[in-house]
Amino acid sequence: VFLGVDIGTSGTKTLAMQEDGRILSSATVEYPLYSPRPGWSEQNPEDWWQATIKSVRKVLKAGKIKPVDVKGIGLSGQMHGSVFLNKKHEVIRPALLWNDQRTAAECAEIEQLAGGRKKLINMVANPALTGFTAPKILWLRNHEKKNFDKTVQVLLPKDYVRFRLTGEFATEVSDASGTLLLNVKQRKWSRPLLRKLELDESLLPEVYESEDVSGHLTEQAARLLGLSKGVAVVGGGGDQAAGAVGNGIVKKGVISATMGTSGVVFAHSDEVQIDPAGRVHTFCHAVRNKWHVMGVVLSAGGSLQWYRNQLCEQQVASAKRKKIDPYQLITEQAGEAPAGSESLFFLPYLTGERTPHADPDARAAWIGLSLRHGRPHLSRAVIEGATYAMRDSLEIIRELNIPVKEIRLSGGGARSKFWRQIQADIYGRKVVTINAEEGPAYGVALLAAAGTGAFKDVVEACSASIRVVESTNVNSKGKKVYNKAYPLFRKLYTSLKGDFQ
Ligand code: XUL
Repeated sequence: VFLGVDIGTSGTKTLAMQEDGRILSSATVEYPLYSPRPGWSEQNPEDWWQATIKSVRKVLKAGKIKPVDVKGIGLSGQMHGSVFLNKKHEVIRPALLWNDQRTAAECAEIEQLAGGRKKLINMVANPALTGFTAPKILWLRNHEKKNFDKTVQVLLPKDYVRFRLTGEFATEVSDASGTLLLNVKQRKWSRPLLRKLELDESLLPEVYESEDVSGHLTEQAARLLGLSKGVAVVGGGGDQAAGAVGNGIVKKGVISATMGTSGVVFAHSDEVQIDPAGRVHTFCHAVRNKWHVMGVVLSAGGSLQWYRNQLCEQQVASAKRKKIDPYQLITEQAGEAPAGSESLFFLPYLTGERTPHADPDARAAWIGLSLRHGRPHLSRAVIEGATYAMRDSLEIIRELNIPVKEIRLSGGGARSKFWRQIQADIYGRKVVTINAEEGPAYGVALLAAAGTGAFKDVVEACSASIRVVESTNVNSKGKKVYNKAYPLFRKLYTSLKGDFQ
């Protein structure tokens, strides 16, 4: 039995997987997120640790798993967050999270110290974004100097939990890529950038490959979790790379399009492919010596969720009466409007946008309304707008010459047949769904299985456990309509750019 533990933003999810890939049990324990000022986003690392203990105990109980049967643990988690530890290895202040927006000045400072954006991208493959870790460390130095001076170690969220489990300061390549301090090409800390930022390398943990064993459960941790001492803890992965492993995105040509609140288009790559404009992230993959390129749409499923909550009171009430999912009613109604929503567009930038615009001030809009348009058009335009935004990332991936043969869908956008068809037609490629739906926790359980010898490597672990269950072909009529409309969608953001904020 292998455990996958995912330290998410809303809670920690643990699952137990048998060697054949079957899931025995899973449990989630939630914790709060604090926003002491607008744009700030923080959590208490102790909450992650307590949620890990509770969720592991629940999983062992629910799956009737004997401690001696657990052979390995994999860790995944929200990326980019920063935990600051003092010399007694205590947490100094609440952790700053991936969605914290306080570091715009530090991003500019990093570009300047690096000698410009181009040089920065040369060193660490990515531009400075407010969510990333390095700007958070500089923020501490600029605004809480006393805390900075006390800091001897900076850890990512899942790596703090690893420290509590094993006593080791360690990370792995996929999550380390999101710190902006990793030489992504060579898979080790970038000494030149650390020098320019005047940061000491001893602040950072040791970097492992994702399936390598990074430490073993201490006696104390084993007692707290109800496990045996000495169980191997593998590197694991940042939630995106780990989720991709859980979807079997471990080979050239296979891409995933995941629509949760945010949307992520994720491509495996055999070589480092860097977008000189820095629109997509280029990070190490959780597969040994492989990389990935990913685009992030901040409000993909989130747009439909907002639409349901704010404007679909009637459908929500009617769905409740019929005991069905309100999204089912909304998508059924959207199907009454034709592809392209009769030239009605929705820009899905409710929370600004990351890829391709990197613009926190971007805003959402319906554009092109006429008397002919009714609720079905409004609904369909939201779904199409979120999907066009995903296509923006896909187009950049294509520009980088990464082959796109098969697109695997997951999240809310994969659940409805209607939305799957829209995705196939807007992406212009067949889309498929797979048997696994457990995301990052499943991915790191597979990494744990591979890293402790149950499989040759994670690629073999994926092919043993993951298979395609459904596929949707492109409808040529739909594709034609969307190919004509997509350039207009792209133009709308540019036309409005100066007027947002
Ligand atoms: C990835 C990212 C999010 C976080 C939280 O770049 O910001 O996926 O990891 O889930």
